[in-house]
This record gives sequence, C-alpha cells and structure tokens, in this order.
Amino acid sequence: MRICSVTLVCMFLAGCAAETTTERPEDPMQDYEEVAATRILDAPEPVPGSFAPDNLVQVKRGEYLVELLGCGSCHTDGALEGVPDFDKALAGSSIGIAFSNPMGNRYPGIVFPPNLTPDPDTGLGGWSDRQIANAVRYGAGRHAGRRIVIMPWQGYAKMTDQDVKAIVAYLRSIPPVRHKVPDEVIPGQDTDDPFVYFGVYRNRDN
Ligand code: HEC
Repeated sequence: MRICSVTLVCMFLAGCAAETTTERPEDPMQDYEEVAATRILDAPEPVPGSFAPDNLVQVKRGEYLVELLGCGSCHTDGALEGVPDFDKALAGSSIGIAFSNPMGNRYPGIVFPPNLTPDPDTGLGGWSDRQIANAVRYGAGRHAGRRIVIMPWQGYAKMTDQDVKAIVAYLRSIPPVRHKVPDEVIPGQDTDDPFVYFGVYRNRDN
C-alpha cells in the first residue's frame, strides 16, 4: 500500500452546532497531520472482455460494471452512512462529501453525489449519452469547464467505449426517481446538511 492510513471521518452537523457547549473534548486528531494526497492509483490497462462475461447483454453488463465500481456507494441515499435506501438506488445522496478539510475550515465545501436515474428534472434525463460518458471518464461536470471533484473519475479514465456505453445504457434503463440532492456548498458557507470527509492522516511522530 502506498498510502499508510486513510481515515474516514463522519460528521453530522445538522442540529448539533446550536446544542454543543463551547468546551471541547481533547482533539482526537491532535497527533495526526493531513497528508496531501497528490497521486492516485493508476488505472490498469483495460483488457477487453476479461472483466465482464461476454454473453451479458449491454444493460446487464452496465449493471455489472456499476455494481463492481461501487457507483451506488456514493450516489445512493444513506449509503455514505452504511444504510443505503435501495428504493432510491442511484437517485443521489442527501449526505454530502466535503472537498475541503473540516478540521481546517470550520465550514468546508461540500458536494452531493447527484441523481443518476433518468428523471428529467432531478436526474440525468436531459443529459446526452456523450455528456454522461464524459462525466464518468473525464470528470466533465454539468457546467462547462467544471471538473467533477471527489468522484474517482481518474480511475475510470481508461474504461473502454464499450463499457462506458454499457453503463450509460444501464443508467437509462433504471426507473426514474424524483429526488433532488442539495446544491453544492462552497467553502466558508454554513449548512445544516450532513457530510462525510475523506482525509489522509499520519502520526506526526513518524
Ligand atoms: C466516491 C464517491 C463517488 C463514486 C464512487 C462515484 N461518484 Fe459519480 N459523482 C460523485 C460526486 C460527489 C459527484 C458530483 C461532484 C461535483 O459536482 O463536483 C458525481 C458526479 C457524477 C456525474 C455527473 C452528474 C451530475 O448531475 O452532475 C455522473 C454522471 C456520475 N457521477 C456517475 C458515476 C458513475 C457511473 C459512477 C460509477 C462508475 C460514479 N459516478 C461513482 C461521487 C461519486
């Protein structure tokens, strides 16, 4: 392993801020400092046909890939706190993911994994196949020039055309679920929405 320890810190801010006293317990993170995660794991070269049985039809192959790649572990309500709501599978998460450090910024920036079902208003109904494929492989966001943060699209960059098309076909085949996720929270902006934070820490003594 190139990264020695990864700590997932869950913070549920909703309602807590007003009730907590100003006295704080000893900071559990005081012996750790954040490691700047400058490199991601390189995706392996694709070997067409080796990672999904060839006899699966396109949609089934897409389902297989979406499950294998864990898209629902972010894009499903409740999944980020370990209790996925399967009735709203892939319909977006009301729990956000902080992209700036809540230990450093009192109010971190937060993104909410969007609704991937074909709902025209709150999901991908209005997106073209190419837009979806570009989001998955190149991190192209909904606004021109915006790179998707947090989602590990770099790891999907070498996916074959056949596989990304299968993912699009599968996302088009699932039932549309009307579910709007909260808007992005910019750093410094207060919010009651819950979020998780993925940070890399190491013991300062090492
Ligand atoms: C680690 C969490 C995570 C995983 C895993 C993940 N995503 Fe995402 N995804 C996000 C977040 C967060 C955003 C929005 C980020 C932003 O706006 O900067 C996003 C954005 C998207 C978008 C753009 C949609 C929009 O409305 O803006 C698409 C399409 C997408 N993801 C598809 C997928 C697919 C398909 C997979 C699996 C192959 C996947 N994602 C895996 C977190 C994740």
